[in-house]
Amino acid sequence: MFTNIKKINSLAIGLLCAGSLYFTQCSSVSEEKEQSANGLHEYYSGYFPIGVAVSPRALEDSAQSALILREFNSMTPENVMKAGPIHPSPNQYNWGPADAVSYYAKENDLKLRGHALVWHQQYPGWFFKDENGDQISKDTLYARMKSHITEVVNRYKDVIYAWDVVNEAVSDNSDFVYRQESPYYQIAGEEYLAKAFEFAHAADPQAKLFYNDYNAARPEKVDRIYTLVKKLKDAGVPIHGVGIQGHWSIFEPSEKDLRYAIDKYASLGLDVQITELDVSIYPWEKERRAMKPGESDEFTNELEEKQLKQYDMFFRVFRDYKETLTGVTFWNISDQYTWLDTYPVEGRKNYPLLFDQELKPKKAYYKVTSFDQ
Ligand code: GLA
Repeated sequence: MFTNIKKINSLAIGLLCAGSLYFTQCSSVSEEKEQSANGLHEYYSGYFPIGVAVSPRALEDSAQSALILREFNSMTPENVMKAGPIHPSPNQYNWGPADAVSYYAKENDLKLRGHALVWHQQYPGWFFKDENGDQISKDTLYARMKSHITEVVNRYKDVIYAWDVVNEAVSDNSDFVYRQESPYYQIAGEEYLAKAFEFAHAADPQAKLFYNDYNAARPEKVDRIYTLVKKLKDAGVPIHGVGIQGHWSIFEPSEKDLRYAIDKYASLGLDVQITELDVSIYPWEKERRAMKPGESDEFTNELEEKQLKQYDMFFRVFRDYKETLTGVTFWNISDQYTWLDTYPVEGRKNYPLLFDQELKPKKAYYKVTSFDQ
């Protein structure tokens, strides 16, 4: 097994040096640590693929690349396929970074999830405006969605097996199902969701199409996500799965709530994936704020223990649902870099992943990999 991993690594790195123009430096296998014969994805080979959100820069880094190839068998581009980065102006697509990720996935035989076609954030400024800066009509919106979705899905259909088609369409306000402030919703109402799935399905009839959201294991929000997805399903819209993002913490969700969520989505006959897993050491907050005086960001033994228990419970539940879950993807590689270092509190270090700042497995890693297979 280990020889195989080494072989794949050398092949990958050879290709990085020779291949894509996007990569600026060659990586070296020599720094690779001969750490363990088994990666996460091998422990979980009888269960589900184990994925990770990546940037092209991380793939260029030999240590991170070695870790990815050892531990994971699936990837999601963290940012580079979002509408803002990939389609910055009406007639310009920025394919380079997304090509680099898809090339790496193909060459190393990793599964690839596409993320995300329709989202109310990280979209290009021009997308909802006409040449006078006024809001576009519904017909123009659909024409733009169709062209964007068709181009992007088509380009990667040889490698991407599943897409997050619509991201985070459910409101943070429990009085509403749909996010009222989304420009898609303001222009087209709830119908835009069906259109997005139809365009994606037409572009790649083989791709598994997901609705993806956060706080998707809080029972009250589970029920609203369920309402939205059921409506699409009942209307015959080509939707195949629900993505539970999994930006969780040592405080939530409880085992009961997690099981409730998975059961509820699965009851619609859809695939369920955990698409963006990290376990913050802080309670969930949404609004950006500065660090408070005296606020600590130390990863104490006590916090590490709580995180380990939470990870242990999550993976025990995931294993119980191996017939339902078709993927578990971590949001970032290691505690060396996580989006949670800057969000929602700029400069407050977080430690949400299974690998530490030196890319070494944390105690939680050993916990989630010790079970009877
Ligand atoms: C959401 C999005 C992701 C990413 C994270 C933060 O969950 O779906 O694409 O932006 O927020 O990194």
